[in-house]
Amino acid sequence: MNDFAWISPQPPKPAVSVAGDLVMHGLIQRVIAEVRPWTMVPDEGLATTIELTLSAINAGIPGDLVECGVWKGGCSFAMLLAQRYAFGEIRRPVWMYDSFQGMGAPGPQDGDHARWWKQRSLTIPDDPDKQNYCAASLDEVKAIIAHFKFEGFTILRPGWLQATVLSRKPDKKIAVLRIDCDWYEPVKCVLEELAPLVSTGGPVILDDYGIWEGCTLATHEYLAKHQLPWAIKSSPNDTGVWMIKTKDSW
Ligand SMILES: C[S@@+](CC[C@H](N)C(=O)[O-])C[C@H]1O[C@@H](n2cnc3c(N)ncnc32)[C@H](O)[C@@H]1O
Repeated sequence: MNDFAWISPQPPKPAVSVAGDLVMHGLIQRVIAEVRPWTMVPDEGLATTIELTLSAINAGIPGDLVECGVWKGGCSFAMLLAQRYAFGEIRRPVWMYDSFQGMGAPGPQDGDHARWWKQRSLTIPDDPDKQNYCAASLDEVKAIIAHFKFEGFTILRPGWLQATVLSRKPDKKIAVLRIDCDWYEPVKCVLEELAPLVSTGGPVILDDYGIWEGCTLATHEYLAKHQLPWAIKSSPNDTGVWMIKTKDSW
């Protein structure tokens, strides 16, 4: 008998889903209804974000909330509003990273669909999807922050992500990292720079994993490069894909 103890190492306590709880269900519906005008994320994706956020806070996962790619901010605001309704106060602020001028050009890894989308934005100025091709100004977002009385709970980081996640990183740990910037380069950059700040047990949400191939590719490359055994989990219709950070690397 050698002295290796056959005791299973305890996995970190993950942020778990609380779906099915009727109170939670009502809270989620209320939050979604209030933020709906300012987000393009489908209901399932918003519900997943709200559940994971409240679960992470309940589980004591240290850190702030971060969203990269916020558009008009509705999903970031859902994370704050859910806290206000669940706890009677906002316990974790949200860092909001965005160009506040829409998408950059897709790169070679983003595929035909992304190139078609970009081309359409150049040739048909009025977005047929009524989303102004993902552009919302900083002033517009500030006005919505005032509408919700979220001043003091939002940290705005305007600029291209490839620069801001390097130069203007959160100065503390991240409890929930939500990535919603669509294309390969910014997704890759956010994973490389901000995923290391996520606390063990915290979720990394990938809005575009099932939608834009650049995001899928950047995710797989990041996990493979760092040998990270993070399972990719999905809510219905692939609208809310996330991974729980179990460890930095083997
Ligand atoms: C799909 S929208 C985000 C949707 C948003 N989360 C919501 O709740 O509706 C993508 C956002 O990512 C931003 N974005 C994309 N690439 C970026 C980059 N390289 N740097 C900064 N922002 C970027 C766009 O300006 C846009 O607001």
